Amino acid sequence: MAGRIPQHFIDDLLARVNIIDVLDGRVQKLKRTGKNYSGLCPFHKEKTPSFTANQEKQFYYCFGCGAGGNALGFVMDYENLSFPEAVEELAKVAGMEVPREDSPQQREKDLQLKKIYDLLERASQFYEAQLRDHENRADAVNYLKSRGLTGQAAKAFNIGFAPSGWDNLINLLSNNEQDLNLLEEAGMVIHNEERDSRYDRFRNRIMFPIRDQRGRVIAFGGRVLGDDKPKYLNSPETPTFHKSRELYGLYEARKHSNNLERLIIVEGYMDVVGLAQYDIHYAVATLGTATTAQHLERLFKMVPEVIFCFDGDNAGREAAIRALKTTLPVIEDGKEARFLFLPEGEDPDSLVRKEGKSDFTERLDNALPLSEFFFKSYSEHADLNSMDGRARFSTEVLPAINSMKPSLLQQMMLDRICELTNLSLEQIQTTVNFHQAVTSTEKTIDHSFSQPEAVSAKDQYDSYSDYDSYPAEYSEQYQELPSSNSKHWSTRDNKSKNTEYSFAEKITALLLHYPQLAGDLNMPSGLEQTNEPGIQLLLQLVAYYKNSPQATLGQLAVDWREDPELSATIIQLYEISTSLEIHSENDARNYLNDAQNGLLEKALTSEISILQKKTQLGPEDKLRLVQKIQQLHQFKQAKKK
Ligand code: UTP
Ligand code: MN
Repeated sequence: MAGRIPQHFIDDLLARVNIIDVLDGRVQKLKRTGKNYSGLCPFHKEKTPSFTANQEKQFYYCFGCGAGGNALGFVMDYENLSFPEAVEELAKVAGMEVPREDSPQQREKDLQLKKIYDLLERASQFYEAQLRDHENRADAVNYLKSRGLTGQAAKAFNIGFAPSGWDNLINLLSNNEQDLNLLEEAGMVIHNEERDSRYDRFRNRIMFPIRDQRGRVIAFGGRVLGDDKPKYLNSPETPTFHKSRELYGLYEARKHSNNLERLIIVEGYMDVVGLAQYDIHYAVATLGTATTAQHLERLFKMVPEVIFCFDGDNAGREAAIRALKTTLPVIEDGKEARFLFLPEGEDPDSLVRKEGKSDFTERLDNALPLSEFFFKSYSEHADLNSMDGRARFSTEVLPAINSMKPSLLQQMMLDRICELTNLSLEQIQTTVNFHQAVTSTEKTIDHSFSQPEAVSAKDQYDSYSDYDSYPAEYSEQYQELPSSNSKHWSTRDNKSKNTEYSFAEKITALLLHYPQLAGDLNMPSGLEQTNEPGIQLLLQLVAYYKNSPQATLGQLAVDWREDPELSATIIQLYEISTSLEIHSENDARNYLNDAQNGLLEKALTSEISILQKKTQLGPEDKLRLVQKIQQLHQFKQAKKK
């Protein structure tokens, strides 16, 4: 949208805003406990406080759900705002004006966009008024009544009526050529170039305004009053409307409750409205497209559970498989996707009218978990009794599993594959390789599994909203099937509290609390080559604090926001640091010293073994090897004392 916000402003803002003020009023039972504040985490349900915040570090962290970050990140997640929106929000409170590095073209574009939003809002109000006032309103009202829709439900979604006629909207909303162009850009007017005539897109239809997360009208869906075709007409893609991102009913669902526990994805406008009328206020609909990864990522940021609703027919099952494939790369531990199949011939709207809220909710409660639907659909046609059948099954299933983020769920699904095929992971790997070699020309493998939908990088802040997405290098690593007990399958994400952390990770964690110690650190050379987990992050952190010794943790989170992997790791390491039993800077220094020695020993050992493995040692290598062995020896002697 508007131009880029200069970095210096973000720095100023964060220096000016106090995270505790931001949390106050948003975090329940927020109170001071020693150096920290604690309270009830707003990001998950809890009765005893596990949410903490530290004023000095300008950082918050929840021990219950792992949420963490600075004031901006908090506002983004809590208010569901984009990065620039969160900056605006905090600036407002701080009484600061957000400067933009605008070009005149950009300003012009913003102005146009603002006008389009304005037109769409006025169009929506016009349609809504027609349902009350138009001379032919009876047609529309009767139609809605015949579908069992109450006036109250229609009102909650601002449903309206576009009367017949080619230029109702044109006459109402345009005075000149410029306005007409805007209406066209907004998708409300169609331009017939041949005849150079323009006319209203929506005529004699029931109108459903589509809103974005902030409630702005961004597009419309229009339904005929009878059985004419096309049944629904939607706004085209416009500067305000991107089908692959938007969901009908999401704004209304969030407006109804700001503590949603689940969302269901249905197909149609009428399904969303019908369900809401029956007091199920958490349905959203895709807009004539399949569910995309972007849709899902958005929903999973808001709720831990998403239920897909499908018709019980073949088309429904096919759509479900497509949804499954889209979900696999997106799902992570702590999130749940489930699949509900309705009886043939029913959609959510018709069914809820037939059986009412409680029966429908019961269906939702019993919807198939992702893993069950996965195995059901993949093993349906597989003959698991024959060797070839098992091989074929494995070949189809494994790319799907590989498309997932490393998670407990993935691990459990792998275990289940072993059970079903009666093979070990190593055996499966061999079988799959063999099978692929044999059938490589047949192209039986569905490659659409392997890549999650690319996230648009258009917006400079997209990478921030993608905070917890999985780093690319991992997905490459996971293309290969690791052995069952291989450490590959457990990542830092899954580390439990009692896991042994590496020296590098411990030092990193410590520095997050005592950044002033970074200057004293002596990192031995050759560390980059060790297999020490977390070493790259540590080196980056040391370099960062050497440059900005005054930076708070909150500041660090902002500076590293473009790198989701770094940000996520930082938050996880923050938790370790609290288990290290360090109570003073002195403790910290001693601890750091020990950990640093541990690292040094590692670096030496690693370099020695690399040199020893070389088949041809040059004279320089030999000298180095001798030196390193001596150093290690001295080091060990010193340690004994
Ligand atoms: P359905 O045909 O299942 O619609 O299409 P529905 O919501 O049950 O419609 P009613 O109950 O007859 O009013 C599902 C969705 O597919 C899109 C719309 O988004 C619709 O809500 N669709 C359908 C179109 O975009 N165009 C069409 O012509 C039909
Ligand atoms: Mn329907």
